[in-house]
Amino acid sequence: MLSPDSLAQIDHEIAKYPADQRQSAVMSALRIAQVEKGWLATETMDFVADYLGMPTIAVYEVATFYNMYDTAPVGKYKITLCTNISCMLTGAPEMTEYLKRKLGCGFGETSEDGRFTLKEGECMGACGDSPVCMINNHRMEGFLTPEKVDRIIEELK
Ligand code: FES
Repeated sequence: MLSPDSLAQIDHEIAKYPADQRQSAVMSALRIAQVEKGWLATETMDFVADYLGMPTIAVYEVATFYNMYDTAPVGKYKITLCTNISCMLTGAPEMTEYLKRKLGCGFGETSEDGRFTLKEGECMGACGDSPVCMINNHRMEGFLTPEKVDRIIEELK
């Protein structure tokens, strides 16, 4: 279900915990699975549960609680815009409108060409750089302006 490379990465995470606590690696395992698959289908979450010896419902709970996990297909690039208080006060509402217009889709939706998914995010711990967004959960961009958003989108196209 997952590639040998992903399984090796998950094994590396499992090794960080006591032998009888494999389930402690669930967040890392889901992250690794999502990087390989693009999103977390039910079968993928079931596989992770089985691999870690956990009830499937416990894995679903984690995957649906944190918004970095995608339990439905997303575009090639997922842009998660923080809309919490610091970002809200420094331009997130304007960036929200700008991104919606630019990509032609709203929060939780994917652009018509399938390249971009726009998501609303919680505080990313980078309030000093607000307004902030994350691209595919791994790349953070701060001090967003319409010009900077244009540059980022252009680079990703
Ligand atoms: S409120 Fe946006 S990063 Fe903290």
